[in-house]
Amino acid sequence: MIAEPLTCQPALVSMRDLDVRTVEALIHRAEEFKHGTELELTEPVYAANLFFENSTRTHTSFEIAERRLGLSVVDFNPQASSVSKGETLYDTCLTLAAVGVRLLVIRHSQDAYYQELLHQPALPVALINAGDGSGEHPSQSLLDMMTISETFGGFAGLKVAIVGDLNHSRVARSNMEVLQKLGAQVYFSGPEAWYDNQFDQFGQYLPIDELVEQVDVMMMLRVQHERHNDDSTFDQAAYHQQYGLTLARAARMKPEAIIMHPGPINRGVELASDLVESPRSKFVEQMRNGVFIRMAMIESVLRGNRLGGLA
Ligand code: CP
Repeated sequence: MIAEPLTCQPALVSMRDLDVRTVEALIHRAEEFKHGTELELTEPVYAANLFFENSTRTHTSFEIAERRLGLSVVDFNPQASSVSKGETLYDTCLTLAAVGVRLLVIRHSQDAYYQELLHQPALPVALINAGDGSGEHPSQSLLDMMTISETFGGFAGLKVAIVGDLNHSRVARSNMEVLQKLGAQVYFSGPEAWYDNQFDQFGQYLPIDELVEQVDVMMMLRVQHERHNDDSTFDQAAYHQQYGLTLARAARMKPEAIIMHPGPINRGVELASDLVESPRSKFVEQMRNGVFIRMAMIESVLRGNRLGGLA
């Protein structure tokens, strides 16, 4: 991949907003952080992570990324905040900006929650979307692209299958968009009821047994029970056999093909438990890369907002 200078963004909320050059620049900068590059702050910079939906990976890796960049992290717990008294998201952000927070990282159950926060003169903050409902998950998408880039050296001609609960997956939405832009060939699989014909513009839907031998990347998605209206008849074992990456299917993958999963994993459902730590699996490397790509994202939005604090 050709090294590009970091492209600064006022906010990072959707992969739709990022062109190929910007994605490559963010990956390149993340690689530099992975190899020890450090930032210098000229004054304290405060960050707040507002997670209105549960998280382990995204929340902790944003916090570690912020601390590695030298930022001061303000504790924010929605249950213990004035949100529980009815304060709106906008007014919460207004408050945090007023007391000196310059970076807001937000995860929220509402699709595109960030629209009401962008381009608000009273909110002089850098904003990163850490996941909006079934909308997008740009930091997961960028760490996925970094992991693929490290493994294969690029995207042109790569065949990537995104498999599982596509309709409810913000990871799938972000990834199909950017993979196509980067020149990869995208395939989809999983229950047809969880497939939206709008995805046809990004790739081809095939049964898992038809694509498992062809693709370079098997990207398995978690079944998002929390976004389903009624899962009372869901049968984990039947799902695994029909749509999951079983040991038998994994044995048919190309020799260099890899397995990815954004986490959290339901072992034995979307993929066999023994595959999670197998040599083909990039699950741990994805989580490790998450810290460095988030450092690059944070630097990009802080510089893009010209709020000061970075040398
Ligand atoms: N991949 C992901 O978003 O995981 P968390 O929900 O644990 O942050």
